[in-house]
Amino acid sequence: RAPEPATLVIFGVTGDLSRRKLLPAIFGLWQDGLLGSAFNIVGVGRQEMTDEEFKDYAVKALQESKETDTIQPGSLEKFRELLFYEFGEFGEDEVYDLVGKELDRAEEAHGGRKNALFYLSTPPSLFEPISNGLGRLGLADQSEGWRRLVIEKPFGRDLDSARRLNAAIHDTWDESQVYRIDHYLGKETVQNLMAIRFGNAIFEPLWNRGYVDHVQITAAEDLGLEGRAGYYEEAGIVRDMLQNHLMQLFALTAMEAPAAFDADAIRDEKTKVLRAVKPIPAGRVGEVAVRGQYGPGSMDGQKVPGYREEPGVDDGSRTSTYVAVKLEIDNWRWQGVPFFLRTGKRLPKKVTEIAVVFKRAPLGIFPGGLERNVLAFRIQPDEGVSLKFSSKSPGQEMVLREVVMDFRYDAFGAQLESPYSRLLLDALIGDATLFPREDEVDHAWQIVSGILEAWDVRPGKGQTPDFPNYAAGTWGPEDAEKLIGPDRRWRRL
Ligand code: BG6
Repeated sequence: RAPEPATLVIFGVTGDLSRRKLLPAIFGLWQDGLLGSAFNIVGVGRQEMTDEEFKDYAVKALQESKETDTIQPGSLEKFRELLFYEFGEFGEDEVYDLVGKELDRAEEAHGGRKNALFYLSTPPSLFEPISNGLGRLGLADQSEGWRRLVIEKPFGRDLDSARRLNAAIHDTWDESQVYRIDHYLGKETVQNLMAIRFGNAIFEPLWNRGYVDHVQITAAEDLGLEGRAGYYEEAGIVRDMLQNHLMQLFALTAMEAPAAFDADAIRDEKTKVLRAVKPIPAGRVGEVAVRGQYGPGSMDGQKVPGYREEPGVDDGSRTSTYVAVKLEIDNWRWQGVPFFLRTGKRLPKKVTEIAVVFKRAPLGIFPGGLERNVLAFRIQPDEGVSLKFSSKSPGQEMVLREVVMDFRYDAFGAQLESPYSRLLLDALIGDATLFPREDEVDHAWQIVSGILEAWDVRPGKGQTPDFPNYAAGTWGPEDAEKLIGPDRRWRRL
């Protein structure tokens, strides 16, 4: 898998994401020889900087980031040579003109076509102006080389704005040129979910309403706001995690087997299952969703402030930092099988997991109750897959106990790649399999739009939630247990 000669143009290159994730990922790919020799990077920002200053900036970012691979001697000096910088206002033509000149220069240096990947690592309000600006100056035109656009999340802030953004982008770009990033799809273990489901014959026969009692998808984070109050107060957990990352995990778990492992076959199946989710009108949200906001508490024995005490957060903030939701799917495979999704900030630990919980055996012939078998995909950390089932305990009595069969990723002895390096390489190669398509994003917004409508009510209107309703360092509001209960419970992770 080697990309053709190309220029990677990063808009918003001085931002947090680019410094912490993108530059280290690109550097890692380059150092591993995966980008070929004819490759360069043009950083674009609104900050005035010379090429030299940008090179220094990037090198410092690489040295400081925890995500940077081990730096080989001499590597940074060579990498510097690939870096260029342009600055300007994203609403004006001049900056795109400069970017165009960079592509001409790269063409001369590479002696090839003018391939370019434009990466929008900017605040969402700039997606449209940049996409338009590139279009105005003809930079989306593919006659002299391929041109692709990578867009970071959040893709819209609700269904309407996502549709407007899609329409605006399509004024310039064909859908086949658009790569919407959801970094969860770049995680090794998320890809493995497809490998295990569709690369083995033993799981699929059980993967349906005949055998599955319910599915639990958890993305718990121990971190709080990390200084992102401005963004988070606007977004909240539904936009930040549920609409994108959790919906993707859900779609991959619930979709039908695609006919081929290619971008459209997979995205067709994901879209189909998202479309089959029973709509949640605003009036029914109370029955199928629970929200929460963390109050003061303690993490690892250290006192931590509540959400409303975080710097930059309003002391009467109604933003949710936790959500649990029950999704039902109206299709033959999943009729009657609930999918419970939960995610939150300041939960006791960082853990992401998909657990398929099977029905109990139909008849209990041993003393004690029957337990449900669980096939759990640990997305992170301790990546792996485990199967929980009952076994006889050694001894004279027929006593059953739950045991776990465990596959751990470290068995491969290889370090897992960062999701960004995987996705960047895919975009450079032109493989869109791990990038959500327009219709998927649209359906994911449709699923959560009733929840947003019910919860986004402005102060003064509607009910004020009883916030905070869980202490930092606990597993979320009590109502989440009621949502899944009484005969089921959230996994203790
Ligand atoms: C991001 C969210 O998309 O995903 C963050 O904006 C969240 O709020 C992060 O912390 C979680 O990603 P990961 O890879 O650390 O699980």
